[in-house]
Amino acid sequence: MAKTKIAVLVSGGGTNLQALIDAEKAGNIPHGEIALVVASKPGVFALERAAKAGIPSGVVERKSYPDKASFEAALLDVLEQHGIQMIVLAGFMLVLSADFIRHFENRMINVHPALIPSFCGDGFYGLHVHEAALNYGVKVTGATVHFVNEVTDGGKIILQKAVDVLDGDTPEILQKRVMEQAEWIILPQAAEIVAKQLSEA
Ligand code: GAR
Repeated sequence: MAKTKIAVLVSGGGTNLQALIDAEKAGNIPHGEIALVVASKPGVFALERAAKAGIPSGVVERKSYPDKASFEAALLDVLEQHGIQMIVLAGFMLVLSADFIRHFENRMINVHPALIPSFCGDGFYGLHVHEAALNYGVKVTGATVHFVNEVTDGGKIILQKAVDVLDGDTPEILQKRVMEQAEWIILPQAAEIVAKQLSEA
């Protein structure tokens, strides 16, 4: 059986990337192989995680290109060079165009740190999501892994997991709990679900 070749796109610390690397190593993504990590900026810690795991990596920076179309063409180029069949957005902080997304229809997934359709869409990323959840006063939040379509955080949901909000939570504390209790668990699980589907297609 040929494994589905996965690229993980990152912009920051890469704890979700680490969860994927650890899951693959533990044999929990048997139908997928993390074949490439692409960062949207240089120097992010996610790149060190990739290097430590022996995974090829690259940087494709939006500001190195005159417009979004040429940036996305460069990104597509790198993905094609590595024979990538599936993309995982793991804390990737750029919104990709409908044109780009079409190339990976039903083959690109994203982890979002809330229970979609709450606290999602344009402007809801990273700590802002947890700030919004705390400001609203919800007692339960969580994480969602979904397919990426042309609507920000709007694609079909693959997995969700709820996490309690506790008295005294700050956005940072809540972010950590959502990562530990939801994101790092459901992202590798969803990656395997989709990698398996693609490997059998
Ligand atoms: C994660 O919480 C992820 O869900 C979120 O950014 C963080 C990245 O952390 N993504 C979004 O908000 C996307 N809308 P990481 O770099 O440690 O994985």
